[in-house]
Amino acid sequence: MEDWIKAGKIAGECLDYACSIAKPGIKLLEIAEKTEAMIKEKGGKPAFPVNLSLNHIAAHYAPSTDDDTLFTEEDILKIDVGVHVNGCIGDTSRTVGNNKELIQAAEDALNAAIPLCTPGRELHEIGKAIENAIAKRRFMSIRNLCGHGVSEYKLHSGISIPNYDNGDKRTLTEGQIIAIEPFATNGSSGKVVEGKPSGIYRLMSAKPVRDMNARKMVAYIAKEYNTLPFAGRWLEKEFQRAKYLLPFLVREGVLHSYPQLYESSRGLVSQAEHTVIVKEKPVVTTKI
Ligand code: CO
Repeated sequence: MEDWIKAGKIAGECLDYACSIAKPGIKLLEIAEKTEAMIKEKGGKPAFPVNLSLNHIAAHYAPSTDDDTLFTEEDILKIDVGVHVNGCIGDTSRTVGNNKELIQAAEDALNAAIPLCTPGRELHEIGKAIENAIAKRRFMSIRNLCGHGVSEYKLHSGISIPNYDNGDKRTLTEGQIIAIEPFATNGSSGKVVEGKPSGIYRLMSAKPVRDMNARKMVAYIAKEYNTLPFAGRWLEKEFQRAKYLLPFLVREGVLHSYPQLYESSRGLVSQAEHTVIVKEKPVVTTKI
């Protein structure tokens, strides 16, 4: 339990730091690199690359080494930070920038959901609270993104926590660890679709490959990241041919490449997230 608390605390502190440096004119790459460095300084490891998703992109964007994208005054930016300590994960996000009302809608939804993370709670009740809080500000909750159970070295495990009333009558149990992550949009569809590659990968099956360099890279990935998501950028620092080997390993079925997820009507999207331990008095591990 100590590691869960520690991971949550580091994630909360590093998200706070990321938000503090996210000022118009900064490169997304700089936010990612500085935040990931701070995670390590504090004694954690990234549980996934810092996600920096702009405007209509709801989730899954990790800048590559040569990415010049700037955060500008017109932008709304979701910052999603994950930290693990010995596989125990803290997952937390916040939105900064333009469109404060939309940002507040996701925060309202998160605040409405957290007190409901108690033993015996039916999942649809949490979804309903999220959906209602967002509707109160006249925005839509994104229905095909959801919160998730978290377990050791597994970012998404077991249950899904809906962001709308989906009728799921399954219940939360004492001590369960979950991430609540509402998304709000001013778009008309309220759903995300898959876009271009995100720069984020995960090891799917460490099956043997012929190419010696590829084999070395797979061994490195298994050792360093286990089955947690990682950035292509991280490997470019270790392996000269990473840029070619990564797509090769995706085609071979060794790695999964995450697509960007964007709101299908290209509406703006906000997000807020905390990791919570289910208890009579829910414990938010990522709150600082
Ligand atoms: Co999450």
